[in-house]
Amino acid sequence: QDSEYNKICEDYKHMLKTLPKGNGWRVQHLYNYNGFWLDSDTLKTNMILNTYFKTQPTDIFLASFMKTGTTWLKALMFSIINRHRYTFSDHYLHHHGPQSTFPLIDSEIYPVNDFTHINAPRLFATHYARDILPLCMTSCKFVYICRDPKDVLTSKWIFMSKLRSKDLTPLLLGEAFELFCQGVSEYGPYWEHVLSYWRASLESPDKILFMKYEDMKKQPKVELKKLAAFLGNPFTLEEVEKGVVEEIVRLCSFENLSKLEVNKKGVERFGKLVEVEKRDFFRKGEIGDWRNYLSKEMKDRIDGIFDEKLKGSGLVL
Ligand code: A3P
Repeated sequence: QDSEYNKICEDYKHMLKTLPKGNGWRVQHLYNYNGFWLDSDTLKTNMILNTYFKTQPTDIFLASFMKTGTTWLKALMFSIINRHRYTFSDHYLHHHGPQSTFPLIDSEIYPVNDFTHINAPRLFATHYARDILPLCMTSCKFVYICRDPKDVLTSKWIFMSKLRSKDLTPLLLGEAFELFCQGVSEYGPYWEHVLSYWRASLESPDKILFMKYEDMKKQPKVELKKLAAFLGNPFTLEEVEKGVVEEIVRLCSFENLSKLEVNKKGVERFGKLVEVEKRDFFRKGEIGDWRNYLSKEMKDRIDGIFDEKLKGSGLVL
């Protein structure tokens, strides 16, 4: 095992020297790994996962590009799967942030953590695009959430600016916009990310549930029922009549989660180095806040890029 691990570390060091480099939003450099931009830590974790991560047939993954609704979906998936363990008056989510419900595998330390202690069905989150996932994962069930690219850019720029290394000059919105349009942003290009899961969902609709943030906002109950059925835990008629669907929607709503003490104070750690203020996972939670940040020209350029890239795919963002 040690020699295998050492080999990965050697390959990783070699990669850092040879892969194309781009500007990072949080750290200085991103590396283009098989078409996707990763920072050095998530690149290394990806290589380690490829060797060490062992799936179980019942594993379920939540995949998302950053800032598309990961926190929300974590809360919802956890609440659906564990709805018989907690009451809505005293729920796990009243005392713990949604981030702690299940691990983001991209930032876990391997090979120390093998997750065998987690009861089935194990839930995991990842931001990696479908094309760079370890092969064994691709036979598992996936929930994917996407969002209007303009809101993603806005949300990500604000979020990453807070996490950005103090040794670097602040990332101006205009710079973030340019990088986003070139596809250079952690886990990006965003359009390739979305397409990687979209195509897979068309091929295996029973394995991949493709969701949109905007649909979740507009018709949360409908989407929640779809999600529960996909997870293999459909709501019974009795549950529907008792108002369980509404309870979960309310529990996991932005309005409710963002006002809980547990989500207002303290930090969440990802890997060794990244610390995020919990409150930064809850900003506005709205559709279309990009209007307060992006000009008409910026809007047109992003819409143009996404129209072009998604053309013929059947997907509209
Ligand atoms: P904004 O910055 O536009 O407000 P992620 O969880 O993938 O990091 O995405 C974060 C975005 O989702 C932020 O968007 C955040 O406010 C929003 N969000 C967090 N919790 C939410 C919830 N329960 N319902 C709706 N949006 C939520």
